Amino acid sequence: MQQSGSGAILSIRGLTKRYAGATALNNVSFTLQAGEVRAICGENGAGKSTFVKMLMGIVQPDGGIISVAGTAHEIRDALQAQSLGLGLVAQELSLAPDLSVLDNIWLGSTEVPFFHRRSSLRARAQQALATLGVGDWDLDRTVGALSIGQRQIVEIARLLARKARVLILDEPTATLSDIEIEKLMQVLRAIKARGHSIIYVSHRLGEVFELCDSVSVLRNGEHIVTKPVRELTRESLIELMLGRAFEEMYPERADASAAHHGGLRIKNLHVPGAVEDLSVTAPRGKILCFAGQLGSGATAVTRALAGLHDKATGDISIDGRTIRLGSARPILAGEVVFVTEDRAGEGIFPELPVRDNLVVSKLAICSRWGVISWRAVRKLADDLAAQVTVTCAHLGIKSGYLSGGNQQKLLFARAVGRATPAVLVMNEPTRGIDIGARAEIYRLMRRLCGEGYVLLMASSDIEEVVGMADIVVTLYRGRVVACYEGAAVRMPSILRDIANPDIPDGQVA
Ligand SMILES: Nc1ncnc2c1ncn2[C@@H]1O[C@H](COP(=O)(O)OP(=O)(O)OP(=O)(O)O)[C@@H](O)[C@H]1O
Ligand SMILES: [Mg+2]
Repeated sequence: MQQSGSGAILSIRGLTKRYAGATALNNVSFTLQAGEVRAICGENGAGKSTFVKMLMGIVQPDGGIISVAGTAHEIRDALQAQSLGLGLVAQELSLAPDLSVLDNIWLGSTEVPFFHRRSSLRARAQQALATLGVGDWDLDRTVGALSIGQRQIVEIARLLARKARVLILDEPTATLSDIEIEKLMQVLRAIKARGHSIIYVSHRLGEVFELCDSVSVLRNGEHIVTKPVRELTRESLIELMLGRAFEEMYPERADASAAHHGGLRIKNLHVPGAVEDLSVTAPRGKILCFAGQLGSGATAVTRALAGLHDKATGDISIDGRTIRLGSARPILAGEVVFVTEDRAGEGIFPELPVRDNLVVSKLAICSRWGVISWRAVRKLADDLAAQVTVTCAHLGIKSGYLSGGNQQKLLFARAVGRATPAVLVMNEPTRGIDIGARAEIYRLMRRLCGEGYVLLMASSDIEEVVGMADIVVTLYRGRVVACYEGAAVRMPSILRDIANPDIPDGQVA
């Protein structure tokens, strides 16, 4: 760990937070110099969010000292954190969608005096946006009309306008498309150049190496090491995070389709306002990917196949049997399983224990004559937890307390342990998921292929598409650009198709 020299803007000693059943953070010390950009990396559940929440007064520590610019403080709430110059862009954005950009920038600020001149607030807001390279944005636009990426930039402007000295970002790119991520990187580089200190929590190592000066690694709530980025490679960082050697992210493609008959056929799928005329087939044992940026329609395809678009039309069949669109029937009949991208909002039941989430779609297996056997439920839950490798203190813990990666594994548990293989439809299956859990989910996906499942996924993570897909359909603004299979699934053509297919080969967009 670095010594807390005179330039330290933030110095933390022995920070600890215990929950019933888990020590989220154990005796962590941390020093951030003024102007430093520090990444915090670690697997799901390592304690990263707990750490930043304690800095922001959202969670109260059980022990430890937080000093800002040399003075120790007990940070009791977000207002106090703000007055100390700490500002957080949390994963769940906190803007008011019905208010304008200007009003959002000043909402809840302790900077605004009771008698203020709106023109000066306007000028300062404009200046904050200009610092970020987006000085031409309209301050009177309502935030609801902006994309997620643009909203994030407003959040950052808001923190700058209230003179934050340390900007803390907790997985800011988890919900952004590649193009929006590039824009955010530009904004953060501009802030860095102006000497701001940044704490950057992310699972995307490319961003860490691009933006950060140093990395602190957390594992199981412990601080493992802090190192300058230049002393690390991608591999060595991954090993520090996992605490073991990391072999291969993407499992080998064993051709599972020969062993199974039938598959999924999509013919003339239309989703009004989202996708036109999509046709493709996928045999059992294969993974079909829809690749595209936000707004390309890739997500609309998977949601339509999960029965979530009541206006979708087209001929869909599995093994020759027609599947009804716009209806929950295929899911209820066990023909289709859906893993949503919004696991907190529409995936898990956060208030229910892990055990109930594991067995929720399988109570029929655990009951006889309509009576549930709790012994069978417990046995099945233990078995599923082991199959999808959920790690938590015990299966009775509320699933909302699990880290993102473990919540995602609960959704996958709905797909495994079925009597007959289904069509597994996934949307951004590894968003916000750490490297170790990701590799486990990919292995699980291949295993399901081996059992005869058809897997469909929409993903804006091109590396994942190329690493996993047997068949790829690229989409741009609601229309199919191309379809690739086997060895033709390659990064350059996919990138070109989804960014702007109208530019011919060989030219750079
Ligand atoms: N309110 C809570 N009650 C009980 N346990 C909790 C609570 N909040 C967090 N935890 C536990 O504390 C540990 C650290 O969680 P935290 O959210 O800080 O991890 P993280 O590193 O941010 O993970 P991720 O990468 O998934 O966001 C986890 O084991 C989590 O289950
Ligand atoms: Mg987190």
